[in-house]
Amino acid sequence: MDLRVQQASVTEIDTPLLIVNLFEGVTQPEGATGAVDRALGGQISQLIADGEITGEPATVTVIHTNNGHSGLKARRVAVVGLGKQSDPEQERFENARVAAALAARKARELKVDSFATIVHGAGAGGLSLETAARATMESSILALYRYEQFKEATKSNHSVGACTIVEQDAERTRALEQQAELARVTCDAVMKVRDLSVGPGNYVTPTFLADTAREVASAHGLEIVVWGKDELKAHGMNAILAVNAGSAQPPAFVAMKYSAPAATKTLAVVGKGITFDSGGISIKPADHMEYMRHDMTGAATVIGFMQLAAATHLAVNVLGVFAATENLPSGSSYKPGDVFKAYNGKTMEIVNTDAEGRVILSDSLAYAVEQKPDAIIDFATLTGACQVALGDHATGLMTNNQRLADQLLAAGEKSGDRCWQLPLWKVYGEQIKTAMADVRNSGGRRAGAITAALFLKEFVADVPWIHLDIAGTAYADGEQTYVAPYNPKPGATGVGVRLLWHFCQSWT
Ligand code: BES
Ligand code: MN
Ligand code: ZN
Repeated sequence: MDLRVQQASVTEIDTPLLIVNLFEGVTQPEGATGAVDRALGGQISQLIADGEITGEPATVTVIHTNNGHSGLKARRVAVVGLGKQSDPEQERFENARVAAALAARKARELKVDSFATIVHGAGAGGLSLETAARATMESSILALYRYEQFKEATKSNHSVGACTIVEQDAERTRALEQQAELARVTCDAVMKVRDLSVGPGNYVTPTFLADTAREVASAHGLEIVVWGKDELKAHGMNAILAVNAGSAQPPAFVAMKYSAPAATKTLAVVGKGITFDSGGISIKPADHMEYMRHDMTGAATVIGFMQLAAATHLAVNVLGVFAATENLPSGSSYKPGDVFKAYNGKTMEIVNTDAEGRVILSDSLAYAVEQKPDAIIDFATLTGACQVALGDHATGLMTNNQRLADQLLAAGEKSGDRCWQLPLWKVYGEQIKTAMADVRNSGGRRAGAITAALFLKEFVADVPWIHLDIAGTAYADGEQTYVAPYNPKPGATGVGVRLLWHFCQSWT
């Protein structure tokens, strides 16, 4: 869908569907909604008085405008609810995102070719124009995302071609045009992560991920190194090879680099790239094992963010690293009781082959450390324990550096990709000690998200590091009670891309 910005008045814009909004409790709408109300002879304020339009979050009311006989050129108006103006900022931000998403979905349901909308939630005492604009634009686009690559006979027959942001003021229109360009490339990156994450495991293989990384690198002039099995052997990346041992698909190790012209800092972003996680010899139950095709979402996040870093000429250097492989049982699989030496020389005892993410991340993190970045942030669908602890609405954050973590937590609030911290107290480390090696790959069920992170910590040396466990936030599996309307259900969210972008805007 095209995103456009047009300087116009809401009464003059010619569109099959015009979206305006209302805060809860307002009886006489002002601003754009007020102008539309007047042009409709007070129809909106009448519907408010009747109790049909309330301004409550997640409400949409469509009004047919008696085309040609009202003071509007728009053929229909939809009023979306924004909640209370007194709601905390975080809620108002979310309400704006939900309002935009539901409006876009309404446009699709009404089968219109395009729609026009005002920016939701900006203005006196509201969100900043920037925040409100990005919320409106990005949610409108992301709400209409569908993955239909493998649909044939049942492909949807209607898609909305364009969304136009209407603004009357010339200066604000220019500001909105800037935000629109950011919104377009941001959504491209988020949707790339979604496509990769949701793509079937027989299609999104380790080789496919490496090829996609190559395409992004050549489209944006990024440096890239791709290693296969031979190079992994030559470089002593035995942990990746261990997980790959049971798979017929060759592994891939990818390192990409975006260099900013005047950058002083380098951020390394590392992702887990398990293109299918059966659990291996410690095999998973059959129910819903198909969701484990999403187990490469961390690697997808790396690819998507590298693309966005280049497209927005980010001011920091970014190193993107991921290892990709399947985790399958076979006669050649790695086994519980096996011991391997990782890239940094540390040894690990495997006690559960289903704790494979941390195993491939060990080599990837150690490689990132060697590149001397100022910070490392890793993304991984790492533990069911994290999904149980935080559910679907917060990414688990664990760190060895509180100053860095505080900045990322703030970027979480700003981007909407919210994170919540879990402790990495030393005492939890007792659970991953073993007589057989330097560390073991599972600490059992208790505090499973934390012990997984403590395993990773063994491979980041003293580089400031944040581990993000996206097991709960990477995708909606269809079991959730609530999926935000800007996310597909079921499907992948693309979490993390906007988080990193906002983090890089203010990283010090
Ligand atoms: N990929 C899974 C974690 C996962 C589970 C992600 C559910 C998304 C949804 C990971 O490789 C895994 O299997 N972890 C084990 C670790 C255990 C064996 C220590 C888990 O969480 O059960
Ligand atoms: Mn696993
Ligand atoms: Zn896994």
